[in-house]
Amino acid sequence: MKQAIILVEPMLDEIEARLDESYDVHRLGLERDRARIEAKPQAIRAVVTGGGTGLSREWFDRLAALGLVAINGVGTDKVDLELARSRGIHVSTTPGVLADDVADMGMALILGVLRRVTEGDRFMRRGDWASGGKPALGASLKGRRLGILGLGQIGRALGRRAETFGMRISYWNRSVCDGQEAWKKFGSPVELAAACDVLAVCVAATPQTEKIVGRDVLAALGPSGLLVNVARGSVVDEDALIAALKGGVIAGAGLDVFVNEPKIRSEFMALDNVLLSPHQGSATVETRRAMGEIVLANLAAYFAGATPPTSVP
Ligand code: 8YV
Repeated sequence: MKQAIILVEPMLDEIEARLDESYDVHRLGLERDRARIEAKPQAIRAVVTGGGTGLSREWFDRLAALGLVAINGVGTDKVDLELARSRGIHVSTTPGVLADDVADMGMALILGVLRRVTEGDRFMRRGDWASGGKPALGASLKGRRLGILGLGQIGRALGRRAETFGMRISYWNRSVCDGQEAWKKFGSPVELAAACDVLAVCVAATPQTEKIVGRDVLAALGPSGLLVNVARGSVVDEDALIAALKGGVIAGAGLDVFVNEPKIRSEFMALDNVLLSPHQGSATVETRRAMGEIVLANLAAYFAGATPPTSVP
């Protein structure tokens, strides 16, 4: 008999087909499957979920036989790791395959805002070009200072890309990191923000980094500064960000992540100086395929009685 698992959010069709082949998949998005879970919660031994979605405490409580939470992503911020540990539940992620695409998204947001890509698109669709309008000038990447907040795999990949565009890189990281001598390190997020034109948030979401980008950091970034976030909404104080964008405290933002996704704050929609992206950092066919393979490998190992290969310690 197939083992019962829950799939919290959709994956690539081909990965879902492979899940269906091996497991009795209960899709949380389907009414019928939710009823099946209600009827037999004790049958569920593994949950597959997204990094931005995780698994609530309520689900942990409901699923007495839960042994694996397989995250299709690298963020563990939406899963209570302490609770999982205390119950001997494995939590696995998909490391090593998504940093490049997330960094590409960081570049897309930087380019998109500085070169006014979506603005140009709107300008043309309104017919403003054809009727003699003049599009506004953008700003060069070359020579611009990029501050990277959080120099993990994604931060490094973004820095390498930005360097090839002629940007000057500096960073702040919570822990000491080596191997990036050429990039200037700052002692605090405020100091980094004060010394850059574009602040790219790549830091992992933890209780220590919650709202690490607040009023002080935004004020330090300044009226010509741009904030880019490809990490998590929770690391930015959205009240402070919205106020800063409205009040000209910073010039603009490119955001791929938000608090309370996908129901984001309506204020963002009304702001012209923001480029909005629906959490697409790792959302390419190639990367989602690679992530899916890791999820499948973790499930297979767990159900074979082994430790899932990319379990978090
Ligand atoms: C994914 C993510 O979009 O890696 C993460 O933590 O948030 C993203 O890569 C997500 O996991 C898929 O839902």
